[in-house]
Amino acid sequence: MTEASATEASAAASSNASTRPSGAASSNDSTRPSAATDAGPTAELLRPHAEQQYAAELAALAQADGLAALAQADDRPRPANWHLSPWAVVTYLLGGELGDGTAITPKYVGSRRLMEIAVATLATDRALLLLGVPGTAKSWVSEHLAAAISGDSTLVVQGTAGTAEEAVKYGWNYAALLAHGPSRDALVPSPVVVAMQRGSLVRVEELTRMPSDVQDALITVLSEKSMPIPELGAEVQAHAGFNLIATANDRDRGVNDLSSALRRRFNTVVLPLPDSFEDEVAIVTRRVGDLGAALELPGVADAAAEIRRVVTIFRELRAGLSVDGRTSIKSPSGTLSTAEAISVVTHGLALAAHFGDGVLRAPDVAGGIVGAVVKDPVADRVVWSEYLETVVRDRREWTDFYRAAREAVP
Ligand SMILES: Nc1ncnc2c1ncn2[C@@H]1O[C@H](COP(=O)(O)OP(=O)(O)O)[C@@H](O)[C@H]1O
Ligand SMILES: [Mg+2]
Repeated sequence: MTEASATEASAAASSNASTRPSGAASSNDSTRPSAATDAGPTAELLRPHAEQQYAAELAALAQADGLAALAQADDRPRPANWHLSPWAVVTYLLGGELGDGTAITPKYVGSRRLMEIAVATLATDRALLLLGVPGTAKSWVSEHLAAAISGDSTLVVQGTAGTAEEAVKYGWNYAALLAHGPSRDALVPSPVVVAMQRGSLVRVEELTRMPSDVQDALITVLSEKSMPIPELGAEVQAHAGFNLIATANDRDRGVNDLSSALRRRFNTVVLPLPDSFEDEVAIVTRRVGDLGAALELPGVADAAAEIRRVVTIFRELRAGLSVDGRTSIKSPSGTLSTAEAISVVTHGLALAAHFGDGVLRAPDVAGGIVGAVVKDPVADRVVWSEYLETVVRDRREWTDFYRAAREAVP
């Protein structure tokens, strides 16, 4: 899946969530299995929410919190309405082993301190802004934070150029409005309002893509912790536990930049690209394994060599330097994010499974890599071609890839 289609998919998913009458009307959504209400077969879902997929880990962490409280080791105070202590939330994100031997899988690979800062922010009255280039796990981390802290990651507003104020504030059910006039029953709360009422987290994806006036509708919410509803002469006040996690793309800077009034309400955490080669290989291997299992693709055990090659190529092109430090390379226009490396390998596995012998080989990834690198058909093609001739061709053990890439040139 490309960056663009990944974004579209998540936009589609979350616009469902935001139009779904939630909160008071949640009995309407019985078709949507949720971890809290229905232990149905999440195995059949194409993409379970974090709180569904990791329900067992979340329960084990809650139990560990409970045991700590019993032992009166009062080092794990839990903020009001949080499902887990900050300690347990960070353990959920970074992985670890609990006292009873339960293994918690790492979701985020990277700095513990960054995650501690993010979690601590959510326990204050400031909101959290996750900033970074595309594919640095901003959405991923925000989903897992919401799942761990509130037990629900589905309250999402997707920011686009077309996001209307109703998506942030509230709308009206026009049939009810015409029949009975403005009333609480005719009000359609946004995910933000639902989160305020429940005392839970709400996520705002791609905040800086929303028009500025829509962004600024959040100022009152974040500073006064209330949403005025002038039509009813009423307001919704936030309950303890309410907070907001926004994500924004570094590359969108200047598109609809945050007003300074809104920026002051956020603590910003910048998510970096993975530091080391091994970290990035670990992230790709783990995510491809998860995605592949959901799509019933072959395992990643046989794919290790190709994964290392894809990550090497991405890192060399990003850095503008070959790994041996001898050849400088021009960088292409795209980000070449870890997320794209994950897509290239997953797509390669699908090719290998359906049209090959089930083992991931150079021709299965070559096309995907070229697609990820060549975003601008003129400039990037030159970059890619130079890279092939100056770096790839001279690597003896890369002949298979060189040949496959030559054939895949668009
Ligand atoms: N440091 C990391 N740790 C774990 N997963 C990562 C990391 N960086 C990227 N990923 C993976 O990349 C994918 C894309 O991340 P996403 O949250 O959509 O990016 P963003 O919102 O920053 O554009 C996710 O599947 C995530 O698992
Ligand atoms: Mg995102």
